[in-house]
Amino acid sequence: MENKNFRFETEAIHSGYLSDEHQGSLVPPLYQTSTFTFASAEQGERRFAGQEEGFIYSRLGNPTVKILEDRMAKLEQGEAGLAFSSGMAAVSAVLTALTKTGDRILCSQGLYGCTYGLLQLLKDKYDIAHDFSLMSSKEILEEEIRPNTACIYIETPINPTMKLVDLELVASIANQRGIPVVVDNTFCSPYLQTPISLGCDVVIHSATKYICGHGDVIAGIVVGKSDFIQQVSRTTQKDIGGTISPFDAWLLLRGIKTLPVRMDRHCENASKLVEFLCNHPKVEKLYFPGNSDYVDDNKIMQKQMKKPGGLISFSIKGSKQTAQLFMNHLKLIKIAVSLGDAETLIQHPATMTHAVVPVEERRKMGIEDTLLRLSVGLEAWEDIQEDLEQALEKI
Ligand SMILES: Cc1ncc(COP(=O)(O)O)c(C=O)c1O
Repeated sequence: MENKNFRFETEAIHSGYLSDEHQGSLVPPLYQTSTFTFASAEQGERRFAGQEEGFIYSRLGNPTVKILEDRMAKLEQGEAGLAFSSGMAAVSAVLTALTKTGDRILCSQGLYGCTYGLLQLLKDKYDIAHDFSLMSSKEILEEEIRPNTACIYIETPINPTMKLVDLELVASIANQRGIPVVVDNTFCSPYLQTPISLGCDVVIHSATKYICGHGDVIAGIVVGKSDFIQQVSRTTQKDIGGTISPFDAWLLLRGIKTLPVRMDRHCENASKLVEFLCNHPKVEKLYFPGNSDYVDDNKIMQKQMKKPGGLISFSIKGSKQTAQLFMNHLKLIKIAVSLGDAETLIQHPATMTHAVVPVEERRKMGIEDTLLRLSVGLEAWEDIQEDLEQALEKI
């Protein structure tokens, strides 16, 4: 295939793979093997010494996984990619690669619950502290970056409050100080947002979500500069070992082919449901990029996101029990954590994804007891709306 840059939709199907190199197989083959044989003892020695390219052992690299890594690097506009056995394996490999005892991590004011849990672990066991910041202006950022801030870690939209962080602003300030900016891009996928093109350094995905799209894989991806990816590959990934299985990589390659088509439909469905939920008398507040009360988020969205995405958070009038009652009345929509699947999923962050966050911290992050997060699926939006409607009627 000609070596040119194609549009996103085309790269999602073709990049990182040349069928000529694989017996003409249209679809990337699944190299379901733990190890690779060497032609001689000397070849094994050369491969271990890095003097000869080639695969050694699937924890250190695998051809099916490599196609996935190259494809994701292309889509995220980065130099190289690295795949992991889960999103959390990716997050922990990156954060441990970037920090040492005595450092601090500056984080967005709200993070996925297990990322919060990991930060606590780093603090308690290794004296790597963290600070939360709104990151809403140059002045705030300059004040909150400390001499020992080793990296900046951002979710945007933030899980589950959908608050946005201006990536260009953060990157411009961090770049001047040589502080790497890491972005968890799980909620957007590279189809909606490419943080590296805005000056950020590292992108992380829970590939379990939109990248997979079919709810049948747990996986993670990191994209960044080649040197950094090589460093993570040879240290925190190799020795801690959160390696993806070749079969899961193969499933992700299959999922990525339809990422743009799926994302368009997720976004279209979500916009329809936002209209409905916004006007419903039993809905207290609705959080959705481009439709939120957050000052400046509209501008940020226009600047860095192609579309607002497929996730909607909203709070129900009443109490935690009212929110739970509403969930229990849903018929089509499934009560489950995770997101980005074909099925519409609903979860209660305060008692599910963010249950590990202490209640005071949770409140600071804006996670009330009546808040629900809806991952809008690919079903007919009218059916999802009718299900929401009948359950709202019952509370
Ligand atoms: C924003 C975000 N980052 C990271 C993760 C962790 O990913 P995984 O569950 O694949 O380990 C999740 C999981 O829900 C998430 O929502």
